[in-house]
Amino acid sequence: TLPTRASIVEVGPRDGLQNEPGRISLDDKVDLINALANAGVQRIEAGAFVNPTWVPQMADSGDAFAAITRKPGVSYSALTPNIKGFDRALAAGADEVAIFAAASEAFSQKNLNCDINTSLERFAEVVAAANANNIPVRGYISCVLGCPYSGKVEPQTCLSIARELLAMGCYEVSLGDTIGVGTAADTQRLLACLLNDIPVEQLAVHMHDTYGQALSNILAALQMGVHVIDSSVAGLGGCPYAQGATGNVATEDVIYLLDGLGIDHGINLHQLMAAGQRICDRLGKRNNSKVTQAHSAR
Ligand code: HMG
Ligand code: MG
Repeated sequence: TLPTRASIVEVGPRDGLQNEPGRISLDDKVDLINALANAGVQRIEAGAFVNPTWVPQMADSGDAFAAITRKPGVSYSALTPNIKGFDRALAAGADEVAIFAAASEAFSQKNLNCDINTSLERFAEVVAAANANNIPVRGYISCVLGCPYSGKVEPQTCLSIARELLAMGCYEVSLGDTIGVGTAADTQRLLACLLNDIPVEQLAVHMHDTYGQALSNILAALQMGVHVIDSSVAGLGGCPYAQGATGNVATEDVIYLLDGLGIDHGINLHQLMAAGQRICDRLGKRNNSKVTQAHSAR
């Protein structure tokens, strides 16, 4: 049955901007994050404390955290792959951090430069440090419905990594279809396997829209009780280690779906659309939200 309320984790400022080829000014980032908060988004992934040589667009995440206007009730989070990243996030005042494992060895090597087990050992150190500082940790698993390098991924593999992330102290695991290849049937199969062992409250879905399947995958997840949905305003984004992968599903389009289903979310769609259009104008990019495209065609 459908949840009555859903929670959006807006990943545009991180997942959306990390792969932009052009320069992004700090002002544009800060404006985007503030506009999202003002539109009612309560969970915003505002940056990443990763190796800046690997992901130059996130190099100024510390400056972005310093410059945003913190809205009460909003959690501003950041990716932290290791202790060095965690220390930077702590110094920047991140409310929450996220660690990110992969369900495929090949992707783990490309994205984290180490195998899955080594990544989990590093993440355990991050979680311990975060616990000591009362900072909640979210866990991601990438490639849950397929890997760009090694193809098929078994639900059972995702289950064992999800268990490890929760056991080390993550409060939630976000399931990433990094390259947007999965269909609703794949989503159902994955969740059916995970839900045998993991309470639905601890799961989120993170659907990239490369094959146009993200909204149907999200509907499938909602129907199985998942109520935390990651999305990116204007459908910004892609992953630097998954060539050809497009952005996450557009937040605007998810909100339109939730409205249609009568599921509460607390976000003002018009303000959200304006925030999405503004960052697209600044970056000289096409807006990938279908809802915004439909409105501007009227
Ligand atoms: P490495 O190069 O193996 O690290 O990277 P290292 O420990 O050998 O260090 C190399 C240099 O990087 C050193 O500097 C370190 O100090 C520095 P040097 O001594 O050469 O001057 N360094 C750092 N600097 C700043 N912050 C740090 C940091 N760590 C090391 N945190 C590492 C290993 C994990 C750091 C690297 O592979 C990395 O940064 N990976 C992250 C890549 C990334 O950001 N990917 C995109 C995000 S994940 C994603 O998009 C998927 C998701 O959306 C879900 C989905 O869609 O599936 C979440
Ligand atoms: Mg992603």
